[in-house]
Formats: sequence, C-alpha cells, structure tokens
Amino acid sequence: MSRTCRQVGVLIRERQPADDAAIHALNVAAFGGSYEATLAEDLRSAGLAAVELVACDAADIIGHILFSQLAVTVDARAVRALALAPMAVRPDRQRQGIGSALVRQGLARTGALGWQAVVVVGHPRFYPRFGFSAAPARKLRAPFSGDAFMAIELEAGALGGEQGRIAYPDAFGVDAR
Ligand SMILES: CC(C)(COP(=O)(O)OP(=O)(O)OC[C@H]1O[C@@H](n2cnc3c(N)ncnc32)[C@H](O)[C@@H]1OP(=O)(O)O)[C@@H](O)C(=O)NCCC(=O)NCCS
Repeated sequence: MSRTCRQVGVLIRERQPADDAAIHALNVAAFGGSYEATLAEDLRSAGLAAVELVACDAADIIGHILFSQLAVTVDARAVRALALAPMAVRPDRQRQGIGSALVRQGLARTGALGWQAVVVVGHPRFYPRFGFSAAPARKLRAPFSGDAFMAIELEAGALGGEQGRIAYPDAFGVDAR
C-alpha cells in the first residue's frame, strides 16, 4: 500500500513496529490524554489489531488509524466485524484531508481482507461521508447508543437481522451489558 492522499508528499502505509513510539506520541497530542494511545497498544498486545495504517510526511508520522476485531452477533449469527478506534491526525495537520484518506484506505483494506462490517463511536458529521450510519448500529446491544454510535456494512446484508449485540474487548474498558 503506497497511495497518497490529497496532501502532496503524504504517504499512507501499513504500521510497522518501529512506528509505535511515534504513534503513541501522536495519539497523546491529538487527544490530549493517554487513553487512546494505551488502547492502541493494548489492542495490539491482545492480538486484536486487524488493520493499522499510518500517514507519513517524510520521516514524520502525522496520522494513524486502527481497526480491531470485535465480537458482533446478529440473531445469533457471528459477524466478522471490526471497531474503528482510535484514529488521530497530528493537530497541526488536521483538516487537510489526512483523516479522510486514512478512513477510506482503511475501509478498502478491511473490505479486501474479507471483514464484513465496521463499528465506530465518533462524530455524526464526520463518519457518514464514508458510509457509516446510526441505523444499522441501533439494533446492536452495546455500551454505546445514539447518533455517535455508527456502523457500515462492507458486505451487503452483513448486519441484517432483528437484534444483535457487541462485546467489546477488555482493552476498551467499557462495561459489557
Ligand atoms: C478527527 C480527525 C482524525 C480528523 O482528521 P482530519 O485529517 O482533520 O480530517 P479531514 O481533514 O479528512 O476532514 C476534516 C473534517 O472532519 C471534521 N471533524 C474533524 N474533527 C471533528 C470533530 N471533533 N467534530 C466534528 N467534526 C470534525 C471537520 O469538520 C472536517 O469537516 P469538513 O471537511 O466538512 O470541514 C482529527 O481531527 C483528529 O485527530 N482529532 C482529534 C482526535 C479525534 O477526535 N479522533 C477521532 C475520534 S472519533
């Protein structure tokens, strides 16, 4: 993977272990705390990181996105699903299209690998532009609800059915219901 986003010189590629200190610093800078940086590390340690991309400008890591395995069932049918979290762009490089490029390339990669759906808790004005919506998430019993709790089907009908549930891994630190 070596496609660029609309920022000239920005490369999006798979995360490598040597990136991890920079990814940690980036998440702390973007979120103003360490919850998301630790979340990324814990998901990796638990073997749950399925797709992880970074955006680079020369040697600098200026963006990061992680998709991790998530236990989702709908009508007792297991869905091959991922959580999108965390995602961050370095504060001085935000609003330049880098976050959007990370989401788009991440979704293309997860779909190509055969994942069926992605769930996100995020801003309801940002994620719908990539195809996420609250409607398919509403049927999923989870520690989250409301407009910020969204999902996208990468495989048509993957989330079809009456009722489902999500069990988040311990790394998220959210209570299962
Ligand atoms: C969210 C984030 C990853 C977006 O990356 P980015 O490179 O700035 O995104 P893009 O330039 O591709 O897109 C910018 C769009 O995102 C929207 N956006 C970004 N952060 C937003 C927020 N917190 N609330 C609402 N909209 C937001 C902007 O309004 C902008 O929309 P516009 O193009 O219609 O003006 C980045 O702002 C960031 O790291 N924020 C801090 C950490 C964070 O909140 N992560 C996401 C958790 S869900």
